[in-house]
Amino acid sequence: MSKKYRSVFSPSTAQERKENFESYWEFTQRHGGELFEDDKDLAVKRERLKYFKDNPVKLRKPLVDPEAFYRNYIEVQDDPATLDRMTLMMTCMYKFARHEWVGIKGAWDVVPDMANSHTIEDKISRVHLAEEFCHVRLFDEILRTFGLNKVEWVPLSPWKEKVYEQFPKLPGFLMDTPAFVTELMGVTFYCHLHALFDDILADEPEVLERVKALLDEITIDEMAHVGQRRNFIGPIGIKISEALVSPFYKMFFNDMPEFDHLFDVQQMIKDGQEFDFNNVPEHMIERSWIPSYCKI
Ligand SMILES: [Fe+2]
Ligand SMILES: [Fe+2]
Repeated sequence: MSKKYRSVFSPSTAQERKENFESYWEFTQRHGGELFEDDKDLAVKRERLKYFKDNPVKLRKPLVDPEAFYRNYIEVQDDPATLDRMTLMMTCMYKFARHEWVGIKGAWDVVPDMANSHTIEDKISRVHLAEEFCHVRLFDEILRTFGLNKVEWVPLSPWKEKVYEQFPKLPGFLMDTPAFVTELMGVTFYCHLHALFDDILADEPEVLERVKALLDEITIDEMAHVGQRRNFIGPIGIKISEALVSPFYKMFFNDMPEFDHLFDVQQMIKDGQEFDFNNVPEHMIERSWIPSYCKI
């Protein structure tokens, strides 16, 4: 099969990036619908989540030991080797989503709100953050699908929270490359998580289908974020980003003791470095956004 897309690290001109911001802005307004700033929410996403909540599905066989999740989800207390893969998968998902939540919580208060967004980039960033809040709600719904309805979203230690709060205040030349690589890491993680669902939920077809649908909602946005954040970066920054993939992924995933029991970090790094949209299913591409310079 001939390739349709180029590497996400492909070069672009300043003019191309300007046009792509305009194209992304059009896409994101259609994709998310009205922004409800007070609720950090978007109309289309809200509808989707409501559909999932109104039509719940349950595990055929409830979790044997939900306490194992609640005991370990904020900090791992038990030896991860003694925990079953289902529990590890759920604590891992929570941790990933929690980092995302902490990052956006810090950013929401420092980036201009829509009324004070005067450039297209500012407007895009505001909607982007609202979308990330929707992802936390979708992750919460994934955990509820497993019967875990007592999950609390807990802040990190005060100094870590401070670090996250400072990040969005950095000038673009420092912030743009790590922000792009973080989005790329998200997509890589979600693709591997999708495959893990197939493996762990083979005996739970209804829940498998539902959690994949919930995760797809997130991944479609994240793919668009990858292109959008890539669009902030010029020729030097894109080289730096490529070099950051390996140290960034390692730093982030090494922080989660359950990670090695579930995922192949080396493969994830490789997938990140080689990411080019060609393996993304068509039904997801149709609802997402790809920069023009990544299309052949
Ligand atoms: Fe996200
Ligand atoms: Fe994102």
